[in-house]
Amino acid sequence: MLSIQSLNQFYGQSHTLWDLTFEVPPNSCTCILGRNGVGKTSLLQSIMGLAPKVTGEIMYEGRNLVGMAAEKRAPMGIAYIPQGRQIFAQLSVEENIRTGFFASRASHNKVPQEIYDLFPVLKDMKSRRGGDLSGGQQQQLAIARALVLEPSMILMDEPAEGIQPSIVQEIGDVIQRLTTDKNLTVLLVEQKLPFARRVGNGFIVLDRGRLQAQGSMSELSEELVSQHLHV
Ligand SMILES: Nc1ncnc2c1ncn2[C@@H]1O[C@H](COP(=O)(O)OP(=O)(O)OP(=O)(O)O)[C@@H](O)[C@H]1O
Ligand SMILES: [Mg+2]
Repeated sequence: MLSIQSLNQFYGQSHTLWDLTFEVPPNSCTCILGRNGVGKTSLLQSIMGLAPKVTGEIMYEGRNLVGMAAEKRAPMGIAYIPQGRQIFAQLSVEENIRTGFFASRASHNKVPQEIYDLFPVLKDMKSRRGGDLSGGQQQQLAIARALVLEPSMILMDEPAEGIQPSIVQEIGDVIQRLTTDKNLTVLLVEQKLPFARRVGNGFIVLDRGRLQAQGSMSELSEELVSQHLHV
């Protein structure tokens, strides 16, 4: 699905990601794990074309994304939900969802019913302003907006950050449904280990911009956790 080979990334003179090589298998959820500041967001931004300087290969459906214009990537079926969600506070819930159509291949801009089926609370609140929603509702809105693209892959940056536990559970259920019912591939940045263990099928561990380990979620040992993830 996504195959990354010798990826390096820089902010000016600062070398952030070092020689990353890994695969993201289709129809499953791969978690990017690592402490604060190790380069998790920079990795997602490199895939989306939003990081300033990237070398190496990011192969997606047979094409190398490195060097491709950022705006060409979303129409290829890659959706991105940024850290902090970035909901438009002044726009209504429905208008927020419809902004997803800017990057989509669809010729219409009607919110598909299945999005409201997945998130009934958004249907009930579709005329409310985005800024009036709770953190958990905003995260559902951010996922809904990404789904408008009809993506085959979805990149999520810490969707459970700052959300109350009962809603974290619901977001986890949705992520699982995306991979099992909708055949999506999810690449998820996550610092909450219980959440990552529940929704992730595989993982990679980053530490100071380098890939330290990868495997299936059952292989994430306590040793790896204490070495690279605990503060
Ligand atoms: N726009 C930027 N310009 C310069 N340096 C940056 C920029 N964005 C991030 N960095 C630096 O790159 C490194 C990796 O940052 P990044 O945001 O990718 O980490 P992260 O793992 O997502 O952290 P967090 O867990 O806090 O979200 C950090 O040292 C950070 O200070
Ligand atoms: Mg980050």
